[in-house]
Amino acid sequence: MSEPMLQAQIDAAKAYEALFVSSLFGEWAPKVADAAQIRPGQRVLDVACGTGVLAREAASRTGPTGSVAGLDPNIGMLSVAKELTPAVDWHQGVAESLPFPDDSFDAVVSQFGLMFFTDRAQALREMLRVLTPRGRLAVAVWDSLDNTPAYAAEVALLERVAGRQAADALRAPFVLGDRSELAALFSGAGVSSVEVTSEHGTAHFPSVRVMVEADLRGWLPVMGVFLAEEQIARMLEEAEPVLAPYVTADGMVVFDSPAHIVTGRKS
Ligand SMILES: C[S@@+](CC[C@H](N)C(=O)[O-])C[C@H]1O[C@@H](n2cnc3c(N)ncnc32)[C@H](O)[C@@H]1O
Repeated sequence: MSEPMLQAQIDAAKAYEALFVSSLFGEWAPKVADAAQIRPGQRVLDVACGTGVLAREAASRTGPTGSVAGLDPNIGMLSVAKELTPAVDWHQGVAESLPFPDDSFDAVVSQFGLMFFTDRAQALREMLRVLTPRGRLAVAVWDSLDNTPAYAAEVALLERVAGRQAADALRAPFVLGDRSELAALFSGAGVSSVEVTSEHGTAHFPSVRVMVEADLRGWLPVMGVFLAEEQIARMLEEAEPVLAPYVTADGMVVFDSPAHIVTGRKS
C-alpha cells in the first residue's frame, strides 16, 4: 500500500475512534465481555477488532496472567489500536481464515463486524475452530433498522438525497437484526447452545452535524460510496429537522440503538 493510502486509512481509523467509538460502539464492549464471561488468566480473541475497544475491555479483565489478540483486515484500524494498546497481540487478517491454531482461545468475541464478512458461516466456523472445547463465543450485531428509528430516518433522507446505493450503505450495519435468522446462522455454522439476547443501547452524538458527517464522510467511503459536496451540504441541512426529535436541550443527539448478543459454544 502506498504511503498516502496508508495515511488515509489511519486518518479514517482515527476519525472512527473519535466519532463512532465514544458515541455508539463503546458501551457494548463491557456487555459482550460479560456475555463471554471473560475471566483473569484467559486467552481471548477479538475478531473484527477495529480500533480495539472490545480487545481493551477484554485485556482489563484477563489481567497480566491472560492474553488478548485482536484481528482486523484494515491496517489503519490496527495502527490506531496498536498505538492505544501496545500490549494486545494485533493481527492483520480476515475472520474467514483465522491465522491461529485449533483450540487456542478460551473466549472468542466480536462486535459489529459479522454483517460485513464476505462469508459469515465460514467466519463462525473459524471462530469455533480456534475456541477451546470449553470456550465461549460472544458476538454482537445491531438490531434491525425498524428498531433504530433515528437511523431509519437518516437512511430515508439519504435515499431521497443520494439514491438507493448510498442508502443501502447506511442500512448495511442493520441487516442481521432478525433474531430467528441470526440464531439459524449460528446453528447452521455448527455453534451449539446458541442464545440470542437483545439489549438496549443508547447512542450519544455531540450534534446532528457530527452524526451526519461521521456517517457520510466516515462510514459511506468505507462501503465504497463517495457523495458529492453538494449532496453532503443538502444532507446536513435537511437532517436538522429530520433528527430534531432526538436532539436534547444541550444539542446532543441521543437515541435508542439496540443490539443482539449471540452466545454459543463448540459442540
Ligand atoms: C463497524 S467496525 C467494528 C469494529 C470494532 N469491533 C468496534 O466495536 O469498534 C467493523 C469492522 O469489521 C472489520 N471487517 C470487515 N470485514 C472483515 C472480515 N472479513 N474479517 C474481519 N474483520 C472484518 C472492518 O475492518 C471493521 O474494523
